[in-house]
Formats: sequence, structure tokens, C-alpha cells
Amino acid sequence: MESTNYQWYPGHMTKAKRMMQENLKLIDLIIELVDARIPYSSKNPDIDALANGKSRIILLNKADLSDSSENKRWLEYYSSRGFFVLEIDSKAGNNIKRVMNVVNEACREKRERDKKRGIINRPVRAMVAGIPNVGKSTFINSFARKSVAKTGNKPGVTRGKQWIRLSNELELLDTPGILWPKFDDKKIGMRLAFIGSINDDIIVSEELSLELLDYLKEYYPECIEVRYDVNADKVSSSILEGIAKSRGCLKAGGEYDIRKAADILLDDFRTGKLGKITLERPQFE
Ligand code: G4P
Repeated sequence: MESTNYQWYPGHMTKAKRMMQENLKLIDLIIELVDARIPYSSKNPDIDALANGKSRIILLNKADLSDSSENKRWLEYYSSRGFFVLEIDSKAGNNIKRVMNVVNEACREKRERDKKRGIINRPVRAMVAGIPNVGKSTFINSFARKSVAKTGNKPGVTRGKQWIRLSNELELLDTPGILWPKFDDKKIGMRLAFIGSINDDIIVSEELSLELLDYLKEYYPECIEVRYDVNADKVSSSILEGIAKSRGCLKAGGEYDIRKAADILLDDFRTGKLGKITLERPQFE
């Protein structure tokens, strides 16, 4: 799969969009994964226009790394906008079994419509989609492991596509749809960089860690204090220096190695060592 170093150029986006449009013709249901730590910034906006008329599920993936009370609020937020929703941890497999229930709920109306038109036993076809690194492959593997047998190609119907038959009622496209992130807003770019979804080299880690600290000291000061034994009630640059001090990050001449402290902070955040943290709050109208 594409890694954290995935770089988007206009050509990539056009190709991804075209693939998405093609795949959408084949499916009834889109299972979109977002990162539970940034459920807004990791959601692709354009898919809403492309997905017109399809059943929609949003899975808050990596819920093991995010704040559980915020997960609830985000589920409510997306549910109020017509999505079927669930929080999951694809890596450990938590809640994966419940995805099938949500799929059934999301497809109930479609199945009833089919039945009225005399179409019975036609499996629902679904596609997993999301921006790079949200956990699409991990999810497909985990979800598929629960039931599975590959159906193989179905020439004439969907040439070249592989479907994973998950039950008599559901088939999943085995390659996920890669969506492109939103780039127009610098804040969104920052948040994608916080979670490691876009290349670090674009933004220097020191700048990134100071931005992260601005947020953490407001919403999760205790996480900084507990992990680094540093008072969070200071300007972010002093907190970063405090982290360098408490972690013994020193350069050869004895001065603090701020870059190293920044890397430690970012790594601790990304791996969940800093605690369960959500970087965005839903805005209900
Ligand atoms: P993608 O297909 O959407 O690009 O994402 P992919 O499945 O490759 O997952 C990207 C990274 O996110 C992987 O980590 C994967 O293990 C991790 N991941 C996926 N789902 C979850 C989850 O629910 N919780 C947590 N904590 N992590 C998740 P990696 O560092 O690239 O590899 P590795 O750590 O598995 O070796």
C-alpha cells in the first residue's frame, strides 16, 4: 500500500478520481474509513459528490488511539448527516464483528427495494475507501478474516476485479479506493502531518511539534505533564525545551536538542504513548 511518503500531484489525483468513478459503478455501498484522531481532516470531501445515491458507512478507524468521549460525539455528528457509523480498531480487530451489522442496516432499504422488484439473493457489493494510511488494507484483512473466500474474477460482469465474498449477502472489492486528502487548508495539512499521513519532510518536525503542543496544552495538558513531567501551562517552545530536558536530549556542545525532543513528542503522539487524543471537535449547527 501507499506509505506515509505518498506524495500527491495533480496527475495522481485525476487518476485516483477516475478509478473511484469506475469502481463506484460496480458497487452499492461505500465503506469510508477516517482516522478517529482527525475525523474531519481525514475525510475526503469530493467523494460526497461522486457517491450520490449510494449507501454510506463511515468507520472511525484507529479508535484505540483517540479519545473515546470524542469518538461518541463524532459518531453522532456523522450519523446526523445520514451516514451509518461505527468506531473500530482494525489492528487489534476490535468491533470488526459489528461492521456486518452496520452493513446490514445500511443496505436494508436497498434489499427491500430489490425484493419488491423480484430481485432476490443478489449480494450487496461494497468498496472500502479512504485517504492513504487510514488503515484500509488492515481493515479489509481483518474484516475478511472473519468470514471469507475469494470469489475470483467474474468475467463479463466485472472483468479484472477481485471480490471477496464475506457472506451470501455481501461482496467486497478487494482493492481499496484511494482518496486524496484536502490540501486547501493549511490546518488540515498540519493535522494530516501530526498523524503521519503526509510526509514529514514537507513540514519541519519542530514547527509541527509546536503546533501540536499548542493544541495539547489546551485540550490534554495532563498528557504532557504525566509523560514528560513538564508543566503544560507555558508557551509551547518552553514546553518543548522542558521535554528535551526531561528526556536528556543534548547536542555535543551541551545545548538542548530541540529537534530530537520534537521527534520524541511526535512519535509518542502517533504511537499512542501520549494517551488517547482526538485533535478535532465536531461543529454541530
Ligand atoms: P492504508 O491501506 O489505508 O494505506 O493503511 P494501512 O492498512 O496500510 O495502515 C496504515 C498503518 O496504520 C499501519 O501501520 C497499520 O498497522 C496502522 N493501523 C491500521 N488500522 C489501525 C488501527 O485501528 N489502530 C492502530 N493503532 N493502527 C492501525 P504501519 O506503521 O504502517 O505498520 P505496522 O505498525 O502495522 O507495522
